[in-house]
Amino acid sequence: MDYRKLKQEFKTPFYLYHFDEIKENFLKLKQVFKARKSQIFYAMKANSNLSLLQMLAKLDSGFDCVSMGEIQRALKVGVKPYKIILSGVAKTREELEFALKSDILYVNLESEAEMLLLEDVAKFLNLKARISIRVNPNVDAKTHPYISTGLHENKFGVELDLARKMYLYAKNSHFLEPVGVHFHIGSQLMDFSPIHEAAQLVAQLVKELKALKIELKFFDVGGGLGVSYENEKEPHLYDYAQGILAALNGLDVTIGLEPGRFLVAKSGELVCSVLYEKITAKKRFVIVDAAMNDLMRPSLYNAYHEIILPYNQGEKSLCDVVGGICESGDFLAKQRELEQTKSGDILVVKNAGAYGFSMSSNYNTRMRPCELALENGKIRLIRQRESFKDLIALEENFLN
Ligand code: LLP
Repeated sequence: MDYRKLKQEFKTPFYLYHFDEIKENFLKLKQVFKARKSQIFYAMKANSNLSLLQMLAKLDSGFDCVSMGEIQRALKVGVKPYKIILSGVAKTREELEFALKSDILYVNLESEAEMLLLEDVAKFLNLKARISIRVNPNVDAKTHPYISTGLHENKFGVELDLARKMYLYAKNSHFLEPVGVHFHIGSQLMDFSPIHEAAQLVAQLVKELKALKIELKFFDVGGGLGVSYENEKEPHLYDYAQGILAALNGLDVTIGLEPGRFLVAKSGELVCSVLYEKITAKKRFVIVDAAMNDLMRPSLYNAYHEIILPYNQGEKSLCDVVGGICESGDFLAKQRELEQTKSGDILVVKNAGAYGFSMSSNYNTRMRPCELALENGKIRLIRQRESFKDLIALEENFLN
């Protein structure tokens, strides 16, 4: 990759996504489930750039959305409503109404209260809402506590017993139609046994419901596939699929998959430039033009992102790579061995395609970087760098 040329044309920092790799990941995942009917619903919270969504939509991807805005993104790039699902613990009446009017495939319900609200909205619109219930199977996903979601102490989903009760209620409602079941026990899972255990528990529920004449069509196993950030051994996709397929023996359902990170994490880079090196009594700091507002995973989760200096050579020494934000928590890497640098050197933060740009902010009134795509050997701009004008657009009219 000729980062220098890209820097000349687009300046730094910028995100660069390798679309061809993302396509490959998509097809690999589809392939391991080929023995059954399956539908990928890309969890767009990982990266919701419109061009990326459009590329995935062309591969026949569906989309897992968690807000009205995300549904609007999917519709904007021409996704058919029956390829869109809506998840999330805090859907508002407005969002539910929008989802029903848009005729999306189903809503993943996360509480009894939400079901009653949805029923009311459906009644108001005089239609039948297709629902799936997010079950919390109380399985420990063994991942970072911030992204672990399948234990009863987490806010997500409903317990199995309550789910059973809700399905019975929904079956008897004129305005609700149970079509699926859902679980998502956590993100960045490097061991699939918790997902497989959850799949077994939830498959049991589907069988019980079948006996009660509630026939579910979709078995949605959420996302969570982990990727290697620091040379960890990556679990095999094949094993992931086998455990799920095994749990579904004897059930005629379409498998719903909601991968986010797996599709995009490793195919994205945050490219920035060194501004200064600063050596204090205690430490060497490499200060760069990207910061925690561009990529907050290191600050928020202490996440590791590999960093390379593609054009530097020589001795390496320990340093912290930091941005310009007025917080000591603003770092991209800590205690990292890197070559000596000088102002203008290019530094690449790897594996930043998931939860990078999508979690970025304008903190310190910093403009978010531009985004580029590499597809079929060609680079193109897919989001322009923000300007000061963009940033103040919603404020300036209110000045006295
Ligand atoms: N489905 C549901 C209902 C989810 O809540 C999530 C992620 C996914 C699918 C996609 O999960 P994935 O395949 O990406 O693991 N910001 C954190 C990750 C938060 C994940 C939230 N939910 C990070 O940067 O690691």
